[in-house]
Amino acid sequence: MSLQQRAASDDLLEERARFVARGVSTPRLVVARAEGAQVEAVDGAVYLDFAGGIACQNTGHGFAPVVAAIHEQVDRFLHQCFMVGTYEPYVEVCRRLAEHSPCVGESKSILVNSGAEAVENAVKIARAATGRAAVVVFENGFHGRTLLTMAMTSKVQPYKAGFGPFPGEIYRAAAPYPYRGVDTDAAIASLEHLFKSEVEAETVACVVLETVQGEGGFIPMPQDYLERLRELCDAHGILFVADEVQSGVGRTGPMWAIEHSGVAPDLLVAGKSLGGGLPLAAVTGRAEVMDAPGPGGLGGTFGGNPVACAAACVVLDTVASEESRSRAAAVGRTLHARLDELASTNAAIGEVRGLGPMLALELREQSPDLAQSVVAAAFERGLLLLSCGLYGNVLRLLPPLNITDEELGRGLDLLEESLAAAG
Ligand SMILES: Cc1ncc(COP(=O)(O)O)c(C=O)c1O
Repeated sequence: MSLQQRAASDDLLEERARFVARGVSTPRLVVARAEGAQVEAVDGAVYLDFAGGIACQNTGHGFAPVVAAIHEQVDRFLHQCFMVGTYEPYVEVCRRLAEHSPCVGESKSILVNSGAEAVENAVKIARAATGRAAVVVFENGFHGRTLLTMAMTSKVQPYKAGFGPFPGEIYRAAAPYPYRGVDTDAAIASLEHLFKSEVEAETVACVVLETVQGEGGFIPMPQDYLERLRELCDAHGILFVADEVQSGVGRTGPMWAIEHSGVAPDLLVAGKSLGGGLPLAAVTGRAEVMDAPGPGGLGGTFGGNPVACAAACVVLDTVASEESRSRAAAVGRTLHARLDELASTNAAIGEVRGLGPMLALELREQSPDLAQSVVAAAFERGLLLLSCGLYGNVLRLLPPLNITDEELGRGLDLLEESLAAAG
């Protein structure tokens, strides 16, 4: 790294401290460019990216077919507002989402800007469709940073503290977390107890559940839990909303994580990797449920921006391909084998878990210290890594799914070194 590069990096960090609110936290990385699974910093350092912009780069940075589609759309028109004029890319994304929908029957969608906005819209739609107000969410859930989605999120620091009061009619049950002693029976009992102690089941519009809890620690919901939750929803006329903002768009192999279980949600929320790096999120669901709100009840100025939609069409086609799915499965197998090996020799690692290539290591100690040291050691060695979990003690791996074998192996070597250095 030259002195000049170092100075440019330091200058920008100084400006950042001066002009950007500290509530948005970022590490020391100052990005110059990114491609595939690699991020180059302004100071010349090159990092292997196991963070993927927090699960937004399932198809890799600057994926050429996505970039080409973006260029093509940019030359046509940038913004139109779907509430002013219909345009093809929006309809084409919704057509693809219907084609890949895990819901029963015909599906329709709306497009918005962020995961949180999509979750909010799913709640609006569920309320309009059922005429009910209450929303049931789960421990270790994360649904976004707006006030409603913060109320739905289950982590006080740093997300909720100081930001209340939050909207009402949000009720929380335990979610399965076998490693910490909550199995399917206990989680179902917690929900049934909630219906006795806090909220009448017949007033609940929807349950909102991440199929694999992301921020909460990469906790996959067990098959039997998803099945029993579906049965409970059916018994009480409650809509089942799958939040697949982090677990969707191929992160676990198939388009949606819930496909592993065969359980059909009523609504599904997508975001993050959907726009291939551009902001785009969606609510997809059973057509009669999606059509409950009247014209004008849903929408937003930028929701379904044409450039983001052009990117999303390519992302959805890519992720749906057999080639992409088998690559994701192979990445998952490589990661799992190596993480199991690490866990067998490192006593600090409590559990390796996840679904397909959406994998994490939970450290035994319920404190963020070791995980933070590993993340810092990884950064020093050229690996971008993120922690998560209620206690910040889970290391999650989110490499692009088209990462090369060599990069994957090198990243895992760096992870192993970082664990050793931090321990
Ligand atoms: C499962 C889940 N839902 C919703 C969100 C919120 O998405 P966004 O940050 O795009 O608002 C996230 C973000 O991490 C998420 O992981």
